[in-house]
Amino acid sequence: MNIQTNIPLSTLTTMRIGGNADRVVNVTSEEELQQAYKNSKELEQPIYIIGDGSNLIVHDEGFAGVIIRIKIMGIDIIDENQETTTVNSGAGETWDVFVKQMVERNLSGIETMSGIPGTVGAAPVQNIGAYGQELADTFVSLRAYDTQSDDFVTLKKEDCGFAYRHSIFRGEQAERYIITHVTLALSKQPPQPPFYDALQQHLAQQQINIANVTVQIIRDAVIAIRSNKLPDPNQLPNAGSFFKNPIVPLQLGETLKASYPDIPIYPVDGMRVKIPAGWLIQSCALKGRILHGIKVHDGNAVVLVNHSAQGYTDLAAARKKITDSVYQKFKITLEQEPLEL
Ligand code: EPU
Repeated sequence: MNIQTNIPLSTLTTMRIGGNADRVVNVTSEEELQQAYKNSKELEQPIYIIGDGSNLIVHDEGFAGVIIRIKIMGIDIIDENQETTTVNSGAGETWDVFVKQMVERNLSGIETMSGIPGTVGAAPVQNIGAYGQELADTFVSLRAYDTQSDDFVTLKKEDCGFAYRHSIFRGEQAERYIITHVTLALSKQPPQPPFYDALQQHLAQQQINIANVTVQIIRDAVIAIRSNKLPDPNQLPNAGSFFKNPIVPLQLGETLKASYPDIPIYPVDGMRVKIPAGWLIQSCALKGRILHGIKVHDGNAVVLVNHSAQGYTDLAAARKKITDSVYQKFKITLEQEPLEL
């Protein structure tokens, strides 16, 4: 177990904002995790779990407690039949390293989630998704340390309460479970059309026959599309989509369509529709603008880039300007997507 003290959380999060944590503990096994958790409890220190910090916003005050970073590694095939391969990954593995390995094995189900920053263990927390796939689609179960019972438990898909960018791990059971392993069932079938619009268009431009694509072709296409739209956090600090795409009543969607014929609207169920937050923000003429050192990304206005912010206060001021503008124009309240510490 590796322990460091007084670590700036700006260095452990991709938004590069946030004050110091008293202690940061890296754990590489379930035993170390249990020990680190118990030690911190005994010292009555607050505890917070992070992976790669790519979906986390930290306040300028930092965290007067212990940050536990999950570094549990290992990717293993645990079951296989004619159609499916079941694979188990340590929560500390980098998500995209995992995707790359699965694509190299010709396994399908997560290839359109190529290039998403963060760890495997963080993926279920917000039920990551992109270009037509979300984690819940292939998810079988996960193993977690249950801080209430001081025991390791297995949670099946139906236990996790997955929804759009949501699960029990950021909802009703937030901070109860610490995810150590994730198990997915991936398909041996090649990807089947129809694909997400942007993907289909990209493949057409490349003159690739969509009836005959491999997982590697889809992975390459997604990486190309992302590189045009989404900033690389290593170059431009950001936390991915800063807002969730709002889900609104169908009737509001229809009213907005009448006033703004080019508004993209996606059905959720018979009663509700989803509207891209990026479109709403762009329509308020905010795309490319720098507000309090925070830049509304040119490629997709749902992403906020830390251009030159002095800290969380600047980010909060920029967020307020954006959410106020969208509310004034559309009467829709944008909800923040990354977690906040
Ligand atoms: N759009 C605009 N302006 C913008 C952004 C989007 O007009 O600034 C329009 C696009 O033209 C398109 C529609 O909105 O018609 C949807 O855009 P896009 O396909 O780029 O996806 P998104 O809804 O903006 C979501 C996810 C992304 C994910 C993409 C692709 C959320 C909050 N974001 O973005 O996820 O990569 O779909 O599936 O659901 C993330 O979660 O961090 C993330 C990047």
